[in-house]
Parts: sequence; structure tokens; C-alpha cells
Amino acid sequence: MRCSRCAAAVPADSLDVECPACDGLLELVASLPSKRGDTLRELFATRRGAIDGPDASGVWRYREMLAACADDIVSFPEGNTPLVSAGTAAHWAGCLTLRVKHEGLNPTGSFKDRGMTVGVTHARRLRARAVACASTGNTAASLAAYAARAGIPALVFIPAGKVAMGKLAQALAYGARTLLVRGDFDACLSLARKAARELGVYLVNSINPYRLEGQKTIVLEMLEQCGWHAPDWIALPAGNLGNTAAFGMALVAAHACGLIGRIPRLLAVQADGAAPFAHAFDSGFTSLRPVTPNTVATAINIGDPASYDRAVRSIRETNGVVTSVRDEDILDAKAAIDAAGLGCEPASAASVAGVRRMVRDGIIAPDDDVVCVLTGHLLKDPDIVVRFHEHAREDREAANPPRPIDPTIDEVKRALDRR
Ligand code: F0G
Repeated sequence: MRCSRCAAAVPADSLDVECPACDGLLELVASLPSKRGDTLRELFATRRGAIDGPDASGVWRYREMLAACADDIVSFPEGNTPLVSAGTAAHWAGCLTLRVKHEGLNPTGSFKDRGMTVGVTHARRLRARAVACASTGNTAASLAAYAARAGIPALVFIPAGKVAMGKLAQALAYGARTLLVRGDFDACLSLARKAARELGVYLVNSINPYRLEGQKTIVLEMLEQCGWHAPDWIALPAGNLGNTAAFGMALVAAHACGLIGRIPRLLAVQADGAAPFAHAFDSGFTSLRPVTPNTVATAINIGDPASYDRAVRSIRETNGVVTSVRDEDILDAKAAIDAAGLGCEPASAASVAGVRRMVRDGIIAPDDDVVCVLTGHLLKDPDIVVRFHEHAREDREAANPPRPIDPTIDEVKRALDRR
């Protein structure tokens, strides 16, 4: 590993995920695979449909592109998520066609499983005594599950009262030691970093470079599903910026290996109430000003993103754009995605809300080829769904309030006839 700040070398078998000399983030030093273009594409194609082993995983199937060892992996398997039409949600976004890559259909219901299979496999190889993460919920759920599979104790730091019910339930159920920290995500992460430094537990937040290796495969699998024809845009929600960093790394590597002929543009979307990255983009990335975050999309309620530098590089290398959207737009986008039969958690819908904004601003053309990444499953945050539909005004297009009835056939008939 190499420090991204001071370039110090750190052995790959170190438990450090930050530079012991200057606290900079560590990067894995790896070379591109010797195979290129068609040879690589054919290799990946022959692995599709494998029933077990590394090839059955939508992460490890692309191992030539990952700086990680595929022996003795901790895997469900994960990945293999569908790329599908957004259906009626395309119209909502103002696009002629729109596709979504549904990462909510991973084993624990979010894209985090892709990074976690790599992070926890590495933790087991290092014989870590325990693994830890700070989380807005999904990383905690994923780590709890993978650590249980690996037989390693897990410690998760989550902001008390600010995590959706489904995610908290998962962390508890899978047996992680769940610490409800009085503070926000940023406070949780600084505590987790301190615990890693002082107590020797292995940190598997997305600052861990092995996590990002796994997350690169969201893009690799998507490109393969696109027949290796790069779309014009890839839109994703942005919080701590690990995914934005991983997407840029994957796209640059895929292009360098001749897997794709051009690099799609990234659209990273934040919530207005937690938009330090979008503000920095507006000022030409001169500086990052952390904020006190406040959005209904709890997964991206982050004010001081840890992978900022790497994400800036991704946006620059992909000629990308960073924007932000109102909570109201996130909830409307979510309702459109849900009603299309796809479903996702609020943060995921920021991608589609961001596309709508960019179409309205004339930055994305209605006939551009756009893929939105839906990062988490609908059932991660059931409370917000029920609240939305119970309290939405009836004239709001997406409102679908439940209707109490007496047990009579007339009432059923009335419900059936209602337009
Ligand atoms: N979408 C969902 C559903 C998430 O859970 C997260 C991050 C993001 C988007 C943003 O990704 O942080 O890489 O920019 N969740 C982390 C967690 C922070 O702890 O589960 P990012």
C-alpha cells in the first residue's frame, strides 16, 4: 500500500488503513492485468452462470481487475444484480429511456456487500481480532453479516436515532456489537478511526482500500451488462464518497484495459442538507467545507466525507458533475421508483432526482443513455414509506394511502372501481 498524501510505503499485510506517518488514506499499488480487450471480455463471459466458487460472485468474477487475492474468500456470493429499465420512473426523470442498476438486491440489501466480501476476506487473512466500522446503517448491516460468516467479532458505531430501522435490525440480528453513538456519522467515524489506531481492530469503512476494490465491480458488472458499450452517464448518490472514488477507479481501469472505448461521465448526487461535495464542485474544488448534515436520506447524512480527495479525482477523470437535490425531490423520485415496481431506499433515489435536475438544467439530454445506481433496498427504511403514503396529499400523483374498510363486499367493489 502507498499513502496518497506522503507516498510512504506500507506493507500490504498491515492492519493500518491510514498512513502511520501522516494519517493520509492508503492506496493499493497494483498493475493492470496483462490480458486486454476481447481476451478479458471473453474470460469474464465464460464465468457468467457459475454456480459456486469465486466465479459465482459478481465481485470475484472480475478478479483480474482487483488488487485483492481471490483465495479462501468470504462470499455469499454477492453482486449479480440486475440492470433493468426504470419503466415509468424514466418519464418522471424526463428521460426517453433510463436504466437502473439495482444494488439493493445484494445479500444484505445494499451495494456494501461488494466491498465487504473483499474487506472481510482480507481481515480474515490478516487474522484480525475484530473488525469495525462507523456507519449510517448499510455498512454496519453488511459488515455484521460478513463478519458472522467469517467468525470474526464485529463492532459497529452508528449515530443514535439517525439510522433506518431495517439496517439497525440487521446489525443486531447478525450479532454485531452495536454502539449507538450520541453524535452524527462524522463523530462515529472519528471514534472508529481512533479505536482502530488504539485498540488494534481492523477498520473496514470505505477508507479501507480493499473495500473500494470490491465496489469497483458495480461499474464493471454494469458495463458488461451494457455489452461493454459505455453509457453517456452513470448517476449515483454520494455521501462519504467511497463509491464515487471506486467508480472513477473502475472506469479509468476499464478504459485502460480496452474493455470500453470511452469513459462515461459520473453524476454524483447529494442531498441539499448534506452537500459539501456539491459545494466544493461549484467552487472548482478549491476546498472542502464540512457541514452539519441534515437530510431525510439518512444513508447520506454525512457532513465531512472521508474519501473527498479520491472522489475529486474521479469527477475530474470522468469529466463528471456533482449536484444536490431537495429532500422533497428525493422522496418524489423514490415514490416514482417504488411505483415502477423497482423500489429503493431514500438515498438511492437521489440518483434519479439528480438526473431529473440535470435534464431540466440542460446538462443531460433527454435521449442520453443514462444508468442510475440504486444503492439500497426499499425495505431498509419502511417507516419513511408508510409515513409518506399515509400523510401524502391525495392530489399528489404518487400518493397511495392505505384505506380502512368495513369487511363488506361493497367496500371492496368501491375500492376496485376507484380510479
Ligand atoms: N446509498 C446508500 C444506500 C448508502 O448506504 C450510502 C452510504 C451511499 C449511498 C453513499 O455512498 O458513502 O460511498 O458516498 N452509506 C454508508 C454507510 C456511509 O455507512 O452505510 P458513499
